[in-house]
Amino acid sequence: MLSHLLHLHGVESVVVECRSRAYVEQRVRAGVLEQASADLLAETGVAERMRLEGLVHEGIHLLFNRRLHRVDFQKLAGRSITVYGQQEIVKDLIGARLAASGQIIFDAADVAISGILDEHPVIRFRENQIECDFIAGCDGDHGVCRTAIPQGMLTRYERNYPFAWLGILAQAAPASSELVYSNHERGFALLSMRTPAISRLYLQCSPDEDLANWPDDRIWDELGTRLDCDALQIASGPILQRGITPMRSSVCEPMQFGKLFLAGDAAHIVPPTGAKGMNLAIADAWVLARALAAFYHSGTSELLESYSSTCLPRTWRAQHFAWWMTSMLHRYEHDSGFEHRRQLAELDAVTTSQAAAAHLAENYTGFPLKSTAAGNIAGETACATKASQ
Ligand code: DHB
Repeated sequence: MLSHLLHLHGVESVVVECRSRAYVEQRVRAGVLEQASADLLAETGVAERMRLEGLVHEGIHLLFNRRLHRVDFQKLAGRSITVYGQQEIVKDLIGARLAASGQIIFDAADVAISGILDEHPVIRFRENQIECDFIAGCDGDHGVCRTAIPQGMLTRYERNYPFAWLGILAQAAPASSELVYSNHERGFALLSMRTPAISRLYLQCSPDEDLANWPDDRIWDELGTRLDCDALQIASGPILQRGITPMRSSVCEPMQFGKLFLAGDAAHIVPPTGAKGMNLAIADAWVLARALAAFYHSGTSELLESYSSTCLPRTWRAQHFAWWMTSMLHRYEHDSGFEHRRQLAELDAVTTSQAAAAHLAENYTGFPLKSTAAGNIAGETACATKASQ
């Protein structure tokens, strides 16, 4: 995404990817785009397939006490979400970069970076090296970039959750046309989808869960129980992919050191509830592309210097939202019953109070890229105007 945006700004970049093209194009990840993320893909010319295959949803359902409650995003926030798999976006972006003669190096083994305080930091892989002006560390939580920053220069704020998600992709028609988030006494469940014939479903499980203990029948039985209500008929089908997603929050501050800028999971992890991870990464890429373009076109480094302080309010807002959705919907192992009743009271508020529902709708559908999450639109507009002069 960053490389694509830089190209549109007339700035050259090289993408160094340690995996193969086939791997990144097939790896099943999240699949919900906030309104602004979908708009950005459309405005930058990479949404042809998303328009055809993406599913635009104007709301979600919350399921508790065996009843579905709809939260109407359009009515409450004037925005929608688009369900379209992350790996499909990756395919579209790789296609666009290669069509524009962009450089993507796949299977780059032994990647290392150095000289991040120098004029020209260096990326090394195999027997190659690239001298550059800047390095964007978009290499995820386990990548090499963040660890290249000397100890003590970053603060990491972390939180672990005492559960994980068991996710499946199944050849089965989704039982609902919109996502269903279920709070059930046996644990959280989520019904999502990729196409009208492919369901994506998740079950809360323990963080050390062994997939071997989950034969297909047990998965479908548990989904049937946790998503049980008169309005849903969960249809089973062949399971095409399965995996366990851990639940963790982390943010590193600042998101920059010298010539290295961290973006996406390299800088922050959110628990999956509310689908913020990919959207935060896209927002970081947008902010960084704009800052680098201002540097190259007008010689100003102001936006680069404020990269971290621009991205962090949105990141923390998403952290709060993901934490809130997680704690409203999951079962806590040693709950005496108090937590569950508190959750039901909260869900009742979110589905009966317009103000509470609007809070969910606004945060779920996300904020415009030009505003900070804190709503400091005036300040941001001043920066944007400067960059475009
Ligand atoms: C999906 C993932 C999420 O984390 C979520 O909150 C909603 C949907 C998905 O993969 O479809």
